Amino acid sequence: MAVDPAPYAKRRAHLISLMRRGIAVIPTAPEVMRNGGTRYPYRFDSHFHYLTGFGEPEAVLVLVAGDATQSILFCREKNVGREVWDGFRHGPDAAREIFGFDAAFPVAQLDEKLVELMGNQPVLFCPVGRDAAWDARLLGLRNCVREKVRSGISAPDEIRDVRTVLDEMRLIKGGGELAIMRRAATISAGAHIRAMRAARPGRMEYEIEAELLHEFYRCGAQSPAYPCIVAGGGNGCVLHYAGNNAALEDGDLLLVDAGCEVEGYAADITRTFPVNGRFGAAQKDVYEMVLAAQNAAIAAARPGMRWNDPHDAALRVIARGLIDLGLCGGSTDSVLESESYKRYYMHRTGHWLGMDVHDVGACKMEGEWRILQPGMTFTVEPGCYIRAADDVPQALWNIGVRIEDDVAITAEGCEVLTEAAPKTVAAIEELMRWPPES
Ligand code: GLY
Ligand code: MN
Ligand code: MN
Repeated sequence: MAVDPAPYAKRRAHLISLMRRGIAVIPTAPEVMRNGGTRYPYRFDSHFHYLTGFGEPEAVLVLVAGDATQSILFCREKNVGREVWDGFRHGPDAAREIFGFDAAFPVAQLDEKLVELMGNQPVLFCPVGRDAAWDARLLGLRNCVREKVRSGISAPDEIRDVRTVLDEMRLIKGGGELAIMRRAATISAGAHIRAMRAARPGRMEYEIEAELLHEFYRCGAQSPAYPCIVAGGGNGCVLHYAGNNAALEDGDLLLVDAGCEVEGYAADITRTFPVNGRFGAAQKDVYEMVLAAQNAAIAAARPGMRWNDPHDAALRVIARGLIDLGLCGGSTDSVLESESYKRYYMHRTGHWLGMDVHDVGACKMEGEWRILQPGMTFTVEPGCYIRAADDVPQALWNIGVRIEDDVAITAEGCEVLTEAAPKTVAAIEELMRWPPES
């Protein structure tokens, strides 16, 4: 696919302007062995890709800020022999041309060139602490620069975490990023629809996972953004359920948390629906409570509100709902105060979403929840998880419900990127009617 280098060049220029003076060294992710002779599917480092658009492993971006700015890529050389086994490599010359760097060199020359480039730079920006081997390598190179003191060359005095700046840049999504996130969201919504259509008593959780993956890949997504959770009945009460190997039972709910990754951006959707296509009475009560909580949270997702306002809005609805279901005693305020709701709702209502599923960016600034502003993207995902227990009415046992959508703050409110995935009781039951009525 042809790369438009312009947005990446703009981000590099922005980072250079925020650095003011110094040198930044930002490596991509390493390849990781799975077991003998097999690697995990390669996934680049998000920060590196945000600044380069370059998807190959063994690559490093170096930026120089100050009077003479530079943007330099280090990458693998062309190697026809290796390309027969592993596929195409750009090589430095083509990479410089296509991706718009000032210069590009073979990655084997990195150490030697860095010792030159670090000379007389006051600050070294790097992902401090992300990878101990990289930290040690950079400190070693800095020592090599220090040894040049008699030639009048100084080494960076200060080392700063470049991620502090990059996290904030990535938090606000631009138009191009939102367009990609819409695609990831729409493909993922289609996969949930496919999962609803495929669910039946007697099918296995992994058969539903296969439907999700089929739809992701069929539509051009590069991978799932995280391992699919396909959790029937009581498995829906396990927040990070990973088994996906149980049979779907008539009368149970099925919780599916699945989203794909497109061009490095994630979608993250959860839908909960009845295996047999019809919600039971108790299931419907819990589901409607969670849906009302989600609607309240989405209503609070607008510019000027604080990060925590959607969570607070959802919590209030859930606290009231748990009292109505007979699962918590006292008043809404006392349930919130005592946090007795946490037995049934123990996670937060959302997280930033972007290149990472749990994306970067601070939620508090100087001790205060940050104010929502256009371009911020996050999930809204309240839930309720009721395990079998002596003090819980049996009709509610093993009901696990989560409803998760992805939203982007706009000038007026928010856009629900994942709205194509049905979520009202009526819409789900209509979709799951089988065979479809004409
Ligand atoms: N699927 C991961 C999450 O919902 O946070
Ligand atoms: Mn999520
Ligand atoms: Mn999720």
